Amino acid sequence: MGDSAISVKQLYKIFLLGKEKVRALNGVSFDIEKGQFVAIVGTSGSGKSTLLNMLAGLEAPTKGTIKIAGENIEHYNERQLVKFRRNHVGFIFQSYNLLPTMDAVENVALPLTFRGMDKSLREKKALKALKMVGLQKYIKHRPTEMSGGQQQRVGIARALVLEPEIIFADEPTGNLDSVTTEEILKLMQDVVRKNKTTLVMVTHDNHLASFADRIIRIKDGKIINDEKREQFKKNEEVC
Ligand SMILES: Nc1ncnc2c1ncn2[C@@H]1O[C@H](COP(=O)(O)OP(=O)(O)OP(=O)(O)O)[C@@H](O)[C@H]1O
Ligand SMILES: [Mg+2]
Repeated sequence: MGDSAISVKQLYKIFLLGKEKVRALNGVSFDIEKGQFVAIVGTSGSGKSTLLNMLAGLEAPTKGTIKIAGENIEHYNERQLVKFRRNHVGFIFQSYNLLPTMDAVENVALPLTFRGMDKSLREKKALKALKMVGLQKYIKHRPTEMSGGQQQRVGIARALVLEPEIIFADEPTGNLDSVTTEEILKLMQDVVRKNKTTLVMVTHDNHLASFADRIIRIKDGKIINDEKREQFKKNEEVC
């Protein structure tokens, strides 16, 4: 398929614990289309984070190929992976990972400094991203002066500010209550549709997964189900 954002073939990740082999990923293959919102679902220890970390170029696989944003990254060294991540991917973390001494604009603008962008343009882009997540009134707030949901909105804005082709999120609402979780999921769904960004989200929660266009279920490092939610997509288009 020419229009894949991510293409994974026969991916294995084997950890050695003493003499014991842990097959965290045991032969996984799939393609993700550009602009698709995919949920990777499985119970604890099924291999979700291992898969996400490899797709995002945070960890190298034991075996297999990963083509993402047009690049084969499976043999990249650390320096190449850093460059790849800076240019192509955004991350949303469960624990937000905001810097406590910085306010919302500074946190969101931070990734742009690595691109050598001047300060006024960084601020302009950060403000636009914060507006996109509905935080225009909180731009001067530090993380401790915001709720968990607001902090995660900052986290989303920080991922968006780079205008990445692909965003990875590992349990992005794991620390939030159910109402805020719904709001954040709807927001993520909305912004990736508008920006035509590919979003890959890991969760153990079936309800959260139902916000995605496609659900890939994994168990013991293998795909056990792959469901495209065409009906859901059509409904959205009609609205
Ligand atoms: N660095 C490591 N060294 C050894 N084993 C590991 C390592 N990382 C993960 N594993 C093992 O690989 C398997 C998959 O782990 P992974 O973190 O991908 O699970 P997960 O689906 O993300 O679980 P959770 O929902 O609890 O976050 C588990 O059996 C885990 O113990
Ligand atoms: Mg995990």
